[in-house]
Amino acid sequence: MLKISDLILPKIGLGTMGGRGNKAIEAYSKAIKMGFRFIDTARIYFNEKTVGAAIKKSGVPREEIILASKVFIWNFSYNGVRKSTKKSLKKLGLAKVDIMYIHWPFKTYKKRKEKVLRAFSELIDEGKIGHLGISNFTINDIDEAIAKYDKQIVVNQVEMHPWLQQKALLEHLDNNKIKLVSYFPLMHGRINEVPELKEIAQKHKASPAQISLAWIMSKGAIPIPKSTTLSHLKDNFESQNIQLDEEDIKKIDGINEVKRFADFPIIAPEWDD
Ligand SMILES: NC(=O)c1ccc[n+]([C@@H]2O[C@H](COP(=O)([O-])OP(=O)(O)OC[C@H]3O[C@@H](n4cnc5c(N)ncnc54)[C@H](OP(=O)(O)O)[C@@H]3O)[C@@H](O)[C@H]2O)c1
Repeated sequence: MLKISDLILPKIGLGTMGGRGNKAIEAYSKAIKMGFRFIDTARIYFNEKTVGAAIKKSGVPREEIILASKVFIWNFSYNGVRKSTKKSLKKLGLAKVDIMYIHWPFKTYKKRKEKVLRAFSELIDEGKIGHLGISNFTINDIDEAIAKYDKQIVVNQVEMHPWLQQKALLEHLDNNKIKLVSYFPLMHGRINEVPELKEIAQKHKASPAQISLAWIMSKGAIPIPKSTTLSHLKDNFESQNIQLDEEDIKKIDGINEVKRFADFPIIAPEWDD
């Protein structure tokens, strides 16, 4: 468990992008029963109904789960944030979202930063949101948001994996007591292509996916692998038990390959690296 502000976050979460309908309800409810307690969705995934149904089906008490959703770029205004949150809660069938993210630091957000941040702060005061999260924020975007926001920002969700290690961003977030939530922790499905992970996996009798997740956790970041395959869900949850040694971590830290898989040319900011 990782403590940030008054929030206790699990070491690993569950991504849900692309999962919708009965198959996903079944998989996500099993994931929650298995032990996943940090669930990630977004307005733009159009699956909040599925995620809400999976939480109910799991039978796990709501208060034991940290649920995160996101406000998308076309709702970055005072009223837009409120409207989007209301819609999220309705679709989820819940009274509160624990973390609500600003999904991208898009120009619609930049233009109306103060009003957008005030809307989030008020929704927290009203008990509809637990905490503000940011996503895809660069170092500069983070500093600007901290300067304008009257509460603690708890997480920045960005792409991070062995081919995009985010060393400078991690350090900056650490200095500001913000946790990094790693999306695409399994390189969007290409995790078996990394020779260093395969080698370390053999040594630990684990899978390359588990080694990637264990390495991300060793950096104090929280991976949110997506899966609707039961064996993968188990694999991912159990990665918490893998103890990488110094040599393993050094080997992954030393990987020179750099690749960003998130390809959103219009909405992406000018990245730090
Ligand atoms: N904030 C943002 O802008 C942003 C952007 C993108 C994504 N995200 C979040 O990040 C989450 C993760 O991203 P993602 O789903 O695209 O990428 P990912 O988690 O890196 O990779 C998912 C892929 O890996 C497979 N997989 C899962 N577990 C595996 C295992 N143990 N061994 C081998 N393969 C495995 C999955 O297939 P199976 O389903 O068959 O297991 C799926 O094809 C999303 O669901 C979303 O919540 C956020």
